[in-house]
Amino acid sequence: MTLDGLDPALAGRFRPDPALAAFGHETAAREVVSAQIAGRRRTALGEWVGSSAMATLGRDDWDSEVLRRACGRVDLWAAPGVPSAEAAAFGAWVADSVRAAVLDYVVCRLPAADVAPLQALEALGWRVVDVLETFAETPRPAPVDGVRPHRPEDRDEVLAIGRESFEESRFATDPVLGPDVSRRVHDVWTRNSLHGLAAREVLVAEGQAGGAVEGFLTCQLRDCPGDVRIGTIALVATAGHARGRGVGRRLVEASVEWFRGQGCALVTVGTQASNAAALRLYENAGFRAVSTSVTLRWARGEAQV
Ligand SMILES: CC(C)(COP(=O)(O)OP(=O)(O)OC[C@H]1O[C@@H](n2cnc3c(N)ncnc32)[C@H](O)[C@@H]1OP(=O)(O)O)[C@@H](O)C(=O)NCCC(=O)NCCS
Repeated sequence: MTLDGLDPALAGRFRPDPALAAFGHETAAREVVSAQIAGRRRTALGEWVGSSAMATLGRDDWDSEVLRRACGRVDLWAAPGVPSAEAAAFGAWVADSVRAAVLDYVVCRLPAADVAPLQALEALGWRVVDVLETFAETPRPAPVDGVRPHRPEDRDEVLAIGRESFEESRFATDPVLGPDVSRRVHDVWTRNSLHGLAAREVLVAEGQAGGAVEGFLTCQLRDCPGDVRIGTIALVATAGHARGRGVGRRLVEASVEWFRGQGCALVTVGTQASNAAALRLYENAGFRAVSTSVTLRWARGEAQV
Protein backbone atom coordinates (compact mmCIF):
# COMPACT_ATOMS: atom_id res chain seq x y z
CA MET A 1 0.00 0.00 0.00
CA THR A 2 1.50 3.35 -0.98
CA LEU A 3 0.85 6.39 1.12
CA ASP A 4 1.98 9.11 -1.30
CA GLY A 5 4.11 11.67 0.40
CA LEU A 6 3.63 10.15 3.85
CA ASP A 7 6.72 8.97 5.72
CA PRO A 8 6.32 5.14 5.88
CA ALA A 9 8.26 5.11 9.16
CA LEU A 10 5.63 7.44 10.63
CA ALA A 11 2.68 5.34 9.40
CA GLY A 12 4.42 2.19 10.65
CA ARG A 13 4.18 3.49 14.22
CA PHE A 14 0.42 4.04 14.21
CA ARG A 15 -1.76 1.84 16.41
CA PRO A 16 -2.68 -1.27 14.34
CA ASP A 17 -6.27 -2.51 14.01
CA PRO A 18 -6.99 -3.78 17.55
CA ALA A 19 -9.18 -6.77 16.61
CA LEU A 20 -6.74 -8.17 14.04
CA ALA A 21 -3.74 -7.49 16.30
CA ALA A 22 -5.39 -9.23 19.29
CA PHE A 23 -5.83 -12.39 17.23
CA GLY A 24 -2.29 -12.52 15.84
CA HIS A 25 -2.92 -11.06 12.36
CA GLU A 26 -0.14 -8.49 12.85
CA THR A 27 0.59 -7.81 9.18
CA ALA A 28 -3.07 -7.47 8.23
CA ALA A 29 -3.59 -5.26 11.31
CA ARG A 30 -1.05 -2.76 9.93
CA GLU A 31 -2.09 -3.06 6.29
CA VAL A 32 -5.73 -2.37 7.15
CA VAL A 33 -4.68 0.88 8.79
CA SER A 34 -2.58 1.88 5.75
CA ALA A 35 -5.52 1.10 3.45
CA GLN A 36 -7.84 3.17 5.64
CA ILE A 37 -5.47 6.13 5.59
CA ALA A 38 -5.04 5.91 1.80
CA GLY A 39 -8.84 5.73 1.34
CA ARG A 40 -9.57 8.69 3.59
CA ARG A 41 -6.79 10.80 2.03
CA ARG A 42 -8.29 10.32 -1.45
CA THR A 43 -11.46 12.21 -0.49
CA ALA A 44 -10.18 14.35 2.38
CA LEU A 45 -11.19 18.01 2.77
CA GLY A 46 -8.07 18.53 4.87
CA GLU A 47 -5.11 16.69 6.31
CA TRP A 48 -2.70 17.22 9.20
CA VAL A 49 0.61 15.43 9.77
CA GLY A 50 2.35 15.67 13.14
CA SER A 51 5.50 13.98 14.41
CA SER A 52 3.78 10.81 15.73
CA ALA A 53 0.25 11.19 14.37
CA MET A 54 -1.80 12.27 11.37
CA ALA A 55 -5.43 13.15 10.80
CA THR A 56 -7.91 13.77 8.00
CA LEU A 57 -11.22 15.62 7.79
CA GLY A 58 -13.72 14.17 5.31
CA ARG A 59 -17.39 14.18 4.42
CA ASP A 60 -19.59 11.45 5.86
CA ASP A 61 -22.22 10.51 3.28
CA TRP A 62 -24.19 8.11 5.51
CA ASP A 63 -24.51 10.58 8.40
CA SER A 64 -25.37 13.38 5.92
CA GLU A 65 -28.17 11.31 4.41
CA VAL A 66 -29.79 10.14 7.63
CA LEU A 67 -29.20 13.26 9.72
CA ARG A 68 -30.25 15.55 6.84
CA ARG A 69 -27.37 17.96 7.34
CA ALA A 70 -23.80 18.30 6.03
CA CYS A 71 -21.80 15.81 8.11
CA GLY A 72 -18.13 15.03 8.31
CA ARG A 73 -15.67 12.94 10.26
CA VAL A 74 -12.21 13.45 11.66
CA ASP A 75 -9.93 10.39 11.70
CA LEU A 76 -6.78 10.35 13.79
CA TRP A 77 -4.04 7.76 13.39
CA ALA A 78 -1.34 7.82 16.04
CA ALA A 79 1.28 5.91 17.92
CA PRO A 80 -0.14 4.84 21.30
CA GLY A 81 0.20 7.50 23.99
CA VAL A 82 -0.18 10.74 21.99
CA PRO A 83 1.87 13.41 23.82
CA SER A 84 0.02 16.53 24.92
CA ALA A 85 1.98 18.87 22.60
CA GLU A 86 1.01 16.70 19.62
CA ALA A 87 -2.62 16.62 20.80
CA ALA A 88 -2.62 20.42 21.07
CA ALA A 89 -1.38 20.71 17.46
CA PHE A 90 -4.09 18.26 16.37
CA GLY A 91 -6.71 20.33 18.24
CA ALA A 92 -5.54 23.57 16.59
CA TRP A 93 -5.82 21.94 13.14
CA VAL A 94 -9.28 20.58 13.94
CA ALA A 95 -10.48 24.00 15.09
CA ASP A 96 -9.26 25.69 11.87
CA SER A 97 -10.36 23.04 9.40
CA VAL A 98 -13.82 22.42 10.90
CA ARG A 99 -14.47 26.18 10.99
CA ALA A 100 -13.45 26.48 7.33
CA ALA A 101 -15.33 23.44 6.01
CA VAL A 102 -19.01 23.83 5.16
CA LEU A 103 -20.12 21.15 7.62
CA ASP A 104 -22.82 21.20 10.32
CA TYR A 105 -21.98 18.07 12.27
CA VAL A 106 -18.61 16.32 12.62
CA VAL A 107 -17.77 13.08 14.43
CA CYS A 108 -14.43 11.75 15.68
CA ARG A 109 -13.94 8.29 17.21
CA LEU A 110 -10.81 7.85 19.32
CA PRO A 111 -9.35 4.95 21.32
CA ALA A 112 -10.33 5.55 24.96
CA ALA A 113 -6.62 5.34 25.82
CA ASP A 114 -5.86 8.42 23.67
CA VAL A 115 -6.69 10.79 26.51
CA ALA A 116 -4.71 13.82 25.25
CA PRO A 117 -6.46 14.23 21.85
CA LEU A 118 -9.78 13.43 23.50
CA GLN A 119 -9.28 16.25 25.96
CA ALA A 120 -8.09 18.54 23.14
CA LEU A 121 -11.45 18.06 21.36
CA GLU A 122 -13.40 18.53 24.60
CA ALA A 123 -11.59 21.84 25.11
CA LEU A 124 -12.95 22.92 21.69
CA GLY A 125 -16.55 22.22 22.74
CA TRP A 126 -16.84 18.72 21.27
CA ARG A 127 -19.18 16.43 23.21
CA VAL A 128 -18.79 12.77 24.10
CA VAL A 129 -21.86 10.95 22.68
CA ASP A 130 -20.82 7.32 22.86
CA VAL A 131 -18.42 4.83 24.44
CA LEU A 132 -18.06 1.78 22.21
CA GLU A 133 -16.74 -1.62 23.29
CA THR A 134 -15.45 -3.80 20.45
CA PHE A 135 -15.32 -7.59 20.72
CA ALA A 136 -13.82 -10.22 18.43
CA GLU A 137 -13.50 -13.97 18.13
CA THR A 138 -12.22 -16.60 15.73
CA PRO A 139 -15.27 -18.38 14.31
CA ARG A 140 -15.57 -22.02 15.32
CA PRO A 141 -18.36 -24.51 14.71
CA ALA A 142 -21.48 -23.35 16.56
CA PRO A 143 -25.08 -24.55 16.78
CA VAL A 144 -27.72 -23.16 14.41
CA ASP A 145 -30.90 -23.59 16.39
CA GLY A 146 -34.08 -22.09 14.91
CA VAL A 147 -32.15 -19.38 13.05
CA ARG A 148 -32.31 -18.94 9.27
CA PRO A 149 -31.67 -16.32 6.58
CA HIS A 150 -34.59 -13.88 6.35
CA ARG A 151 -37.26 -14.16 3.68
CA PRO A 152 -39.17 -11.27 2.07
CA GLU A 153 -42.24 -12.03 4.22
CA ASP A 154 -40.20 -11.46 7.45
CA ARG A 155 -39.53 -7.81 6.64
CA ASP A 156 -42.36 -6.14 8.59
CA GLU A 157 -41.60 -8.17 11.71
CA VAL A 158 -37.88 -7.39 11.47
CA LEU A 159 -38.58 -3.66 11.04
CA ALA A 160 -41.00 -3.70 13.99
CA ILE A 161 -38.35 -5.31 16.25
CA GLY A 162 -35.78 -2.77 15.05
CA ARG A 163 -38.15 0.09 15.93
CA GLU A 164 -38.44 -0.96 19.58
CA SER A 165 -34.67 -1.51 20.00
CA PHE A 166 -31.45 0.55 19.73
CA GLU A 167 -32.35 3.10 22.42
CA GLU A 168 -28.71 3.62 23.36
CA SER A 169 -27.14 4.73 20.08
CA ARG A 170 -24.87 7.78 19.69
CA PHE A 171 -27.80 9.50 17.93
CA ALA A 172 -30.16 8.95 20.87
CA THR A 173 -27.66 10.24 23.44
CA ASP A 174 -26.80 13.38 21.45
CA PRO A 175 -28.91 16.32 22.71
CA VAL A 176 -29.00 17.96 19.25
CA LEU A 177 -30.44 14.75 17.71
CA GLY A 178 -32.37 12.59 20.21
CA PRO A 179 -34.49 9.40 20.25
CA ASP A 180 -36.71 10.25 17.23
CA VAL A 181 -33.69 10.77 14.97
CA SER A 182 -32.12 7.62 16.38
CA ARG A 183 -35.27 5.61 15.57
CA ARG A 184 -35.31 6.96 12.00
CA VAL A 185 -31.60 6.21 11.48
CA HIS A 186 -31.96 2.63 12.67
CA ASP A 187 -35.10 2.13 10.60
CA VAL A 188 -33.18 3.19 7.45
CA TRP A 189 -30.23 1.02 8.52
CA THR A 190 -32.44 -2.06 9.06
CA ARG A 191 -34.24 -1.48 5.74
CA ASN A 192 -30.92 -1.08 3.91
CA SER A 193 -29.72 -4.32 5.50
CA LEU A 194 -32.83 -6.18 4.36
CA HIS A 195 -32.24 -4.87 0.84
CA GLY A 196 -28.62 -6.05 0.85
CA LEU A 197 -27.20 -2.50 0.85
CA ALA A 198 -25.91 -2.45 4.43
CA ALA A 199 -25.49 -6.18 5.08
CA ARG A 200 -24.59 -9.37 3.23
CA GLU A 201 -27.19 -11.39 5.14
CA VAL A 202 -29.89 -10.83 7.74
CA LEU A 203 -30.54 -13.84 9.98
CA VAL A 204 -33.80 -14.24 11.87
CA ALA A 205 -34.69 -16.33 14.94
CA GLU A 206 -38.01 -18.11 14.77
CA GLY A 207 -40.24 -18.62 17.80
CA GLN A 208 -40.34 -22.04 19.46
CA ALA A 209 -43.31 -23.25 17.39
CA GLY A 210 -41.59 -22.04 14.22
CA GLY A 211 -43.89 -18.99 14.23
CA ALA A 212 -43.26 -15.27 14.46
CA VAL A 213 -39.79 -13.78 14.12
CA GLU A 214 -38.37 -13.15 17.62
CA GLY A 215 -35.13 -11.45 16.66
CA PHE A 216 -32.72 -10.59 13.87
CA LEU A 217 -29.00 -10.07 13.28
CA THR A 218 -27.26 -8.41 10.33
CA CYS A 219 -23.99 -9.80 8.93
CA GLN A 220 -21.36 -7.73 7.09
CA LEU A 221 -18.23 -9.01 5.34
CA ARG A 222 -15.00 -7.11 4.68
CA ASP A 223 -11.99 -8.38 2.74
CA CYS A 224 -8.82 -6.91 4.18
CA PRO A 225 -5.32 -6.71 2.74
CA GLY A 226 -3.38 -9.91 3.39
CA ASP A 227 -6.36 -12.06 2.35
CA VAL A 228 -8.04 -11.78 5.71
CA ARG A 229 -11.83 -11.74 5.64
CA ILE A 230 -13.55 -10.14 8.61
CA GLY A 231 -17.19 -10.71 9.49
CA THR A 232 -19.03 -8.09 11.51
CA ILE A 233 -22.28 -8.31 13.44
CA ALA A 234 -23.71 -4.87 12.75
CA LEU A 235 -27.20 -4.97 14.30
CA VAL A 236 -28.73 -7.51 16.64
CA ALA A 237 -32.09 -7.18 18.37
CA THR A 238 -34.74 -9.39 19.89
CA ALA A 239 -38.43 -8.57 20.34
CA GLY A 240 -39.16 -6.90 23.69
CA HIS A 241 -41.35 -9.79 24.91
CA ALA A 242 -38.70 -12.40 23.96
CA ARG A 243 -35.66 -10.90 25.73
CA GLY A 244 -33.70 -12.80 28.36
CA ARG A 245 -34.78 -16.17 26.95
CA GLY A 246 -31.66 -17.00 24.93
CA VAL A 247 -32.86 -15.69 21.55
CA GLY A 248 -29.92 -13.29 21.31
CA ARG A 249 -27.54 -16.12 22.16
CA ARG A 250 -29.03 -18.33 19.42
CA LEU A 251 -28.68 -15.52 16.87
CA VAL A 252 -25.06 -14.78 17.75
CA GLU A 253 -24.06 -18.46 17.67
CA ALA A 254 -25.78 -19.02 14.32
CA SER A 255 -24.06 -15.94 12.91
CA VAL A 256 -20.65 -17.23 14.02
CA GLU A 257 -21.39 -20.42 12.08
CA TRP A 258 -22.55 -18.36 9.07
CA PHE A 259 -19.35 -16.26 9.17
CA ARG A 260 -17.28 -19.45 9.41
CA GLY A 261 -18.98 -20.73 6.28
CA GLN A 262 -18.02 -17.47 4.54
CA GLY A 263 -14.33 -18.07 5.30
CA CYS A 264 -13.94 -15.35 7.94
CA ALA A 265 -10.76 -15.39 10.02
CA LEU A 266 -12.35 -13.13 12.59
CA VAL A 267 -15.80 -11.96 13.68
CA THR A 268 -16.15 -8.55 15.31
CA VAL A 269 -18.98 -6.72 16.99
CA GLY A 270 -19.28 -3.36 18.74
CA THR A 271 -21.72 -2.17 21.35
CA GLN A 272 -22.23 0.70 23.77
CA ALA A 273 -20.23 0.12 26.96
CA SER A 274 -23.47 0.85 28.88
CA ASN A 275 -25.42 -1.98 27.20
CA ALA A 276 -25.10 -4.68 29.86
CA ALA A 277 -27.30 -7.19 27.99
CA ALA A 278 -25.24 -6.92 24.80
CA LEU A 279 -21.92 -7.10 26.70
CA ARG A 280 -23.03 -10.30 28.42
CA LEU A 281 -24.37 -11.70 25.18
CA TYR A 282 -21.01 -11.38 23.38
CA GLU A 283 -18.91 -12.49 26.37
CA ASN A 284 -21.08 -15.58 26.87
CA ALA A 285 -20.78 -16.42 23.16
CA GLY A 286 -16.98 -16.54 23.52
CA PHE A 287 -16.08 -13.07 22.21
CA ARG A 288 -13.13 -11.23 23.73
CA ALA A 289 -13.08 -7.46 24.38
CA VAL A 290 -10.36 -5.94 22.14
CA SER A 291 -10.80 -2.17 22.36
CA THR A 292 -12.78 0.68 23.83
CA SER A 293 -13.34 3.87 21.88
CA VAL A 294 -14.98 7.19 22.61
CA THR A 295 -17.08 9.04 20.01
CA LEU A 296 -17.08 12.84 20.17
CA ARG A 297 -18.94 15.24 17.94
CA TRP A 298 -19.04 18.90 17.08
CA ALA A 299 -22.30 20.57 16.04
CA ARG A 300 -22.33 23.95 14.29
CA GLY A 301 -24.02 26.61 16.37
CA GLU A 302 -23.78 24.65 19.61
CA ALA A 303 -20.28 25.64 20.64
CA GLN A 304 -17.44 27.80 19.43
CA VAL A 305 -14.41 26.12 17.90
C1 LIG B 1 -28.97 -7.25 23.53
C2 LIG B 1 -30.11 -8.19 23.16
C3 LIG B 1 -30.05 -8.51 21.67
C4 LIG B 1 -29.98 -9.49 23.98
O1 LIG B 1 -30.98 -10.37 23.51
P1 LIG B 1 -31.64 -11.47 24.45
O2 LIG B 1 -32.53 -12.29 23.60
O3 LIG B 1 -32.23 -10.83 25.64
O4 LIG B 1 -30.33 -12.28 24.83
P2 LIG B 1 -30.23 -13.59 25.75
O5 LIG B 1 -31.58 -13.97 26.31
O6 LIG B 1 -29.51 -14.59 24.93
O7 LIG B 1 -29.32 -13.06 26.94
C5 LIG B 1 -27.98 -12.75 26.76
C6 LIG B 1 -27.36 -12.45 28.11
O8 LIG B 1 -27.69 -11.10 28.50
C7 LIG B 1 -28.27 -11.14 29.79
N1 LIG B 1 -29.26 -10.05 29.86
C8 LIG B 1 -30.42 -9.97 29.17
N2 LIG B 1 -31.03 -8.80 29.48
C9 LIG B 1 -30.23 -8.17 30.36
C10 LIG B 1 -30.29 -6.92 31.04
N3 LIG B 1 -31.32 -6.09 30.85
N4 LIG B 1 -29.27 -6.58 31.85
C11 LIG B 1 -28.22 -7.42 32.04
N5 LIG B 1 -28.08 -8.59 31.41
C12 LIG B 1 -29.08 -8.96 30.60
C13 LIG B 1 -28.90 -12.48 29.92
O9 LIG B 1 -29.08 -12.83 31.27
C14 LIG B 1 -27.86 -13.34 29.24
O10 LIG B 1 -26.75 -13.56 30.06
P3 LIG B 1 -26.61 -14.95 30.87
O11 LIG B 1 -26.58 -16.02 29.79
O12 LIG B 1 -25.33 -14.77 31.58
O13 LIG B 1 -27.81 -15.05 31.74
C15 LIG B 1 -31.51 -7.57 23.51
O14 LIG B 1 -31.48 -7.13 24.85
C16 LIG B 1 -31.92 -6.41 22.61
O15 LIG B 1 -32.52 -6.61 21.56
N6 LIG B 1 -31.57 -5.15 23.00
C17 LIG B 1 -31.89 -3.98 22.18
C18 LIG B 1 -31.00 -3.91 20.94
C19 LIG B 1 -29.53 -3.87 21.32
O16 LIG B 1 -29.13 -3.22 22.26
N7 LIG B 1 -28.70 -4.58 20.52
C20 LIG B 1 -27.25 -4.69 20.75
C21 LIG B 1 -26.47 -3.61 20.19
S1 LIG B 1 -26.49 -3.53 18.39
